[in-house]
Amino acid sequence: MVLSMDRWVGKVAVVTGASAGIGAAIAEQLVEKGLKVVALARRKERLNELAKKLANKKGKLYPVKTDISKEEDILNAFKWIKENLGPVHILVNNAGILKMGNTLTDGDTDTWRDVLNVNVLGLCIATREAVRDMKVNKIDGHIIHINSTAGHQVPPTPGLNVYPASKYAVTALAETLRLELNSQKSRIKITSLSPGVVLTEIAAGVLEKLIKTMGKDEQLLDAQDVADAAVVYALSTPPHVQIQELTIRPILDIHFSELLKN
Ligand SMILES: NC(=O)c1ccc[n+]([C@@H]2O[C@H](COP(=O)([O-])OP(=O)(O)OC[C@H]3O[C@@H](n4cnc5c(N)ncnc54)[C@H](OP(=O)(O)O)[C@@H]3O)[C@@H](O)[C@H]2O)c1
Repeated sequence: MVLSMDRWVGKVAVVTGASAGIGAAIAEQLVEKGLKVVALARRKERLNELAKKLANKKGKLYPVKTDISKEEDILNAFKWIKENLGPVHILVNNAGILKMGNTLTDGDTDTWRDVLNVNVLGLCIATREAVRDMKVNKIDGHIIHINSTAGHQVPPTPGLNVYPASKYAVTALAETLRLELNSQKSRIKITSLSPGVVLTEIAAGVLEKLIKTMGKDEQLLDAQDVADAAVVYALSTPPHVQIQELTIRPILDIHFSELLKN
């Protein structure tokens, strides 16, 4: 199998949650490979900084302020892309939130709703819009869902509330989409990419504690590791090869439950 990003050069990729962590690393990689990358997130100033940093690279980053929990924002973002850049070739559904400590037995509904709106419904709406655009323009594009190992096995960590369920939903949504596209004889690819613990801002407090306890951070993945798996590997495969599910985790398991006892 020959891995190559050549067919994507100059094409449009949309990355949700591109203002930090894994999304920012993926957006950066895609710009370096020569794509037009539409970076969606709420913190526009962060997106602008990233665009500035990447100004002299082969491709270009286009910041578009978008709240993925709001359908209207997503529709406006896709409208802007259609009017200003042209057909979407790649969508990376990366935006995701984790609200630790809000238990299922005592948590509040609004927090659960926020997590499900971003991690599940926002992903579904963005996917629908991207696939519609790809079909209208006859593009054999690629959708990547940034899932989690928590979408395959519930971690024995108290306080995750609806997060694992939201990622189990992503596992099901990826396979349901694959079957749906297949039944339509579509050649659009769908990849579910499931990282273990990655050093980002998503659970900053817990991760800082983890680093303090371990005295080093080298057992954790960084955002670049995940970007390499998404871009260099999954997107670089030839048109007939589909990476359906890819799990990437640190070499040694991290025992959060032990950590949270300290
Ligand atoms: N870090 C890990 O250990 C880990 C492990 C497995 C899977 N993941 C998954 O990887 C993905 C990225 O997480 P990360 O670790 O990189 O987290 P992060 O550093 O906290 O970044 C999250 C990104 O999502 C965006 N986002 C959050 N809510 C949003 C909203 N309503 N609308 C638009 N964008 C929104 C944030 O942008 P704004 O705040 O600017 O909107 C930010 O760019 C998530 O889906 C997460 O579940 C992470």
